[in-house]
Amino acid sequence: MQIRFADRRPEGDYALVLPVAGKDRSSLKSLGAAQSTVIAALDRQRFDGDASSASEQFIDDKGTVRRLLVVGTGAGKPSGDGAEKLGGTAPARLLTSGEKRAVIDVSGLGYDADAAARIGLAAALRSWRYDRYRTKLKDKQKPTLGEVIIVGGGEGAAKRYKDRWAPVYEGVSLTRELVTEPANIIYPGSFVERVRKSLGGTGVEIEVLNRAAMDKLGMGALLGVAQGSVREARLMILRWNGGAKDGPPTAFVGKGVTFDTGGISIKPAAGMEAMKWDMGGAGAVVGALKALALRKAKANIVGICGLVENMPSGTAQRPGDVVTTMSGQTVEVINTDAEGRLVLADAVTYVQRNFKPGTVIDLATLTGAILVSLGHEWAGLFSNNEELASELLKVGAASGDKLWRMPLAEPFNRLIDSPIADMKNVGPREGGSITAAQFIQRFIENGVKWAHIDMAGKAWSDKASATADKGATGFGVRLLDEYVSDVLEA
Ligand code: BES
Ligand code: MN
Ligand code: ZN
Repeated sequence: MQIRFADRRPEGDYALVLPVAGKDRSSLKSLGAAQSTVIAALDRQRFDGDASSASEQFIDDKGTVRRLLVVGTGAGKPSGDGAEKLGGTAPARLLTSGEKRAVIDVSGLGYDADAAARIGLAAALRSWRYDRYRTKLKDKQKPTLGEVIIVGGGEGAAKRYKDRWAPVYEGVSLTRELVTEPANIIYPGSFVERVRKSLGGTGVEIEVLNRAAMDKLGMGALLGVAQGSVREARLMILRWNGGAKDGPPTAFVGKGVTFDTGGISIKPAAGMEAMKWDMGGAGAVVGALKALALRKAKANIVGICGLVENMPSGTAQRPGDVVTTMSGQTVEVINTDAEGRLVLADAVTYVQRNFKPGTVIDLATLTGAILVSLGHEWAGLFSNNEELASELLKVGAASGDKLWRMPLAEPFNRLIDSPIADMKNVGPREGGSITAAQFIQRFIENGVKWAHIDMAGKAWSDKASATADKGATGFGVRLLDEYVSDVLEA
């Protein structure tokens, strides 16, 4: 999707998109002679101008038949959020409509450069789809809309889009692609290769550890998960050094289980195909690094992806096995399906030992229990630091990647004590997301600020939103980008 900015409507064919803020229909004045029929039609349709309401009509625009999409934005001044709803509604309605161009005209309506740019971001994000494996799409099902032109927002809108939101779009796209790809295509080795290609030329430095290298480092927990699979594990390390020379980096760590069968503690068949997106945390980390590099963020970031496939086989680890982690701590593996925390344990130890980050933020599709707590609306946030937690809650709300804080406490920590090893990898059913977080916390070293984001309900969506069709959401990219922008670059 081409996103462009202009100071007036172009010549020729296009669908015209006009926002209406609640009951205030003054934006329709620009329709000239067509205005009265359009308003009559809106009334007949009981169009109220509420956010995300829309009315599609055809008008006679100086002798040409033009498609008009009136989009409600709710009463009041334009906001970034409202701008995104507007920007997303246009392609949601027009992507396969036959129209090739859409013009979203917000001129004179009080949209500043950033709001106008965010119309563009949402239009791009909502248009994203992955048709690689659809060989039989009928012409009518194929996207026609190739260009969205935003009119209004002033001089700075195009620059704002290019400097901030186009990079974010690129990052989210990469994440969605990786999350969408099935597990026969994206496994640890191919994840690394796909990301290498995608990040080529961005300035992100990439280093990759294979099994032998991780074995040498003593990453028995990560390798224990991987040992049932013919796909060899990888630890992918990405560095973006856009900040001060000597500043300690901030670490983003992602769970990258490219398929989670559960291992010997195998999952039920129904719905297991969803576990192709159990690498959504790692996907978010690489998407965020792409966005940050493309926009040349002034921050030092290290991204770590723990990449494994969790399979049952003759070489798979068994319930009851005891593994030794890179930290030296031992773990009794009660349930091989609680594999994400095992992968993260070694990944967070590796990043702390090698890069001395001040802050570690991990993202993981870690527990089904977080879905019981928060459904598909919020991801769970766990943190050992009040300031970091409140910063993340704030950037979560601002970015739309919403977080809800969950507790950590010693009584939960005691629930994963093991009679044979330092800890076991599961606690009781109750509080399952919390004991999972407590497990990771046992690998956080003294003085390191840490946050864990359990995004099991967020990597994939069965329904479309303002900025995403159903499917991979790209959750986490905007959150991390906003964190860097709002906290690290401030
Ligand atoms: N990847 C799953 C968590 C998950 C479940 C994500 C459903 C998305 C939807 C994770 O590895 C897992 O299997 N967790 C177990 C932990 C349990 C064995 C303690 C779970 O949540 O059931
Ligand atoms: Mn699992
Ligand atoms: Zn998993």
